[in-house]
Amino acid sequence: MIRRKKRGGRDAGTPLGLFRLMKVRLKVWRQEGPNKPGRFETYETPELNPNMSFLEMLDAVNEELIRQGKEPIAFAHDCREGICGTCGITINGQPHGPGKGSATCQIYMRKFRDGETITLEPFRAKAFPVIKDLIVDRSALDRIILRGGFISVRAGSAPDANTIPIPKRTADLAMEAAQCIGCGACAAACPNASAMLFVGAKASHLGLLPQGQPERFSRAAAMAEQMEEEGFGACRAYGACEEACPKEIKLEVISRLNRDFTLALLKGEL
Ligand code: SF4
Ligand code: FES
Repeated sequence: MIRRKKRGGRDAGTPLGLFRLMKVRLKVWRQEGPNKPGRFETYETPELNPNMSFLEMLDAVNEELIRQGKEPIAFAHDCREGICGTCGITINGQPHGPGKGSATCQIYMRKFRDGETITLEPFRAKAFPVIKDLIVDRSALDRIILRGGFISVRAGSAPDANTIPIPKRTADLAMEAAQCIGCGACAAACPNASAMLFVGAKASHLGLLPQGQPERFSRAAAMAEQMEEEGFGACRAYGACEEACPKEIKLEVISRLNRDFTLALLKGEL
């Protein structure tokens, strides 16, 4: 039998005594609706297991707020495993918070110090209006996809894998770009609120593969045009988008987008 070893302080009491409970103070952006003024409010969390995810910590804070008859903090989430792209929060000024290659739902409380004050804001970009508290409207990204993030061919049933030979390097680049989860952190991180990393990823994913060739140039042009109409800024190569991206999409997708956009101009496909 494993005996629980009593340790001093706030011991989590695990059989192996591997962690101590922690508490943090949250400074949270509260905003009742899109056209309401916002403000920061401060909350002390209950005691937390450092292995809790950041969203589990928010669940615990909300349970306490509800118990006190107060309005819980609104935040978006769905898969909680870095797939759906809905969970973006700006944590301590950084979209998706500390660490590289993680969405907000993949951040754990052990990334923070016991007693630390953590500031939570929604993703900030003109094209992402606040719906409530930490939730923003990211439908601008959906409208960009509607302008060209698809291929207009009947795919039919799945062909044999080798029917259309694709060089390994090309397939790898397309798969890397296809990892974009449409979270919008790139635009939120960019001083110019540009969504070029997102558009570049979508245009690369389809434009690198044979099936995406027929609409490659018109697709790049249409999506870039829609990005501008939605109020996203132009790329100034700051590189903040690449740093914030939870899928570590590389800046080279923007180079590919720029090349295809220029070729669309030359070919008269704009
Ligand atoms: S490129 Fe990265 S940061 Fe931008 S939407 Fe896609 S996954 Fe999110
Ligand atoms: S909740 Fe789906 S990516 Fe975070």
